[in-house]
Amino acid sequence: MKALVTGATSGIGKSIAKKLAKRGWKLILTGRNEAVLKKMQAAFGNDTEIITADLSKREEVFRVYELCRDKDVDMLVNNAGYGLFGKFDETDMEDELNMIDLNITALHILTKLFLRDFKKKDSGIILNVASAAGFMAGPLMSSYYASKNYVLKLSIAIYEELRRDRSNVSITVLCPGPVDTNFNNRAGVSFSVKPISADQAAEYALRKAFAGKLFALPGLTVKLGAIGSRFVPNKLLAAIVYNIQQAKKTSDGKEKALK
Ligand SMILES: NC(=O)c1ccc[n+]([C@@H]2O[C@H](COP(=O)([O-])OP(=O)(O)OC[C@H]3O[C@@H](n4cnc5c(N)ncnc54)[C@H](OP(=O)(O)O)[C@@H]3O)[C@@H](O)[C@H]2O)c1
Repeated sequence: MKALVTGATSGIGKSIAKKLAKRGWKLILTGRNEAVLKKMQAAFGNDTEIITADLSKREEVFRVYELCRDKDVDMLVNNAGYGLFGKFDETDMEDELNMIDLNITALHILTKLFLRDFKKKDSGIILNVASAAGFMAGPLMSSYYASKNYVLKLSIAIYEELRRDRSNVSITVLCPGPVDTNFNNRAGVSFSVKPISADQAAEYALRKAFAGKLFALPGLTVKLGAIGSRFVPNKLLAAIVYNIQQAKKTSDGKEKALK
């Protein structure tokens, strides 16, 4: 069995790769950090393939697919992504568009292309990494939350299409709350609640994906949040999220945030 993992050089993606390797899966790992990819290749063995690619660039996403399409991939893990903090009119335009290209466009392209291949052979697993942020609007982190809403809703819709087709292809969407990874450093923020570990998130996600479940919601808080968000009016929920984000400013002016 072979899996393609995006964002494999750090955090949740790295843990997923480690856990798949332990289960005997062959891996194709991608990320921009070639040095880390090479280290992982050395650790996992020679049949591990690595592709250095910036997935915020559309042509790089298609290149990754072209390099993988004849390699009999059984599982696609769309994990690469990052977040941006700040008021919508103040966040950097380029950085934000880059984030949208990575969090949404790259995931969209890979999901579509691999889904076509998986449907042809009537087998395959797609694991999309969204976030608990996917269940709500996120003032002070608006585009990140919106991007994860896209990932969540896209995955739910595909799940239903596959169910109607009685397909053996499965799709799972991981929606974690805070996870202890490099995410915060990238965004320049820190947590105010205790995060779960990347290994915990990865193990939970894989368990759900191998069971063919749509949702992977690790932890009681995330489960309650997902259910609660259905009953709280959008405007009220946005006000609550704003207050949570706003209350997390640190003394050095950086913002803490939920993910
Ligand atoms: N940590 C949390 O609290 C949390 C909560 C909910 C959801 N998530 C989601 O979990 C996923 C993984 O994040 P993480 O928490 O594990 O963060 P992380 O430790 O920062 O890992 C992010 C990964 O994405 C890759 N990446 C970033 N920009 C890229 C680009 N332009 N092209 C290709 N790869 C790129 C990075 O690899 P390179 O630097 O090598 O490119 C890295 O492997 C993200 O989608 C994030 O939104 C995280």
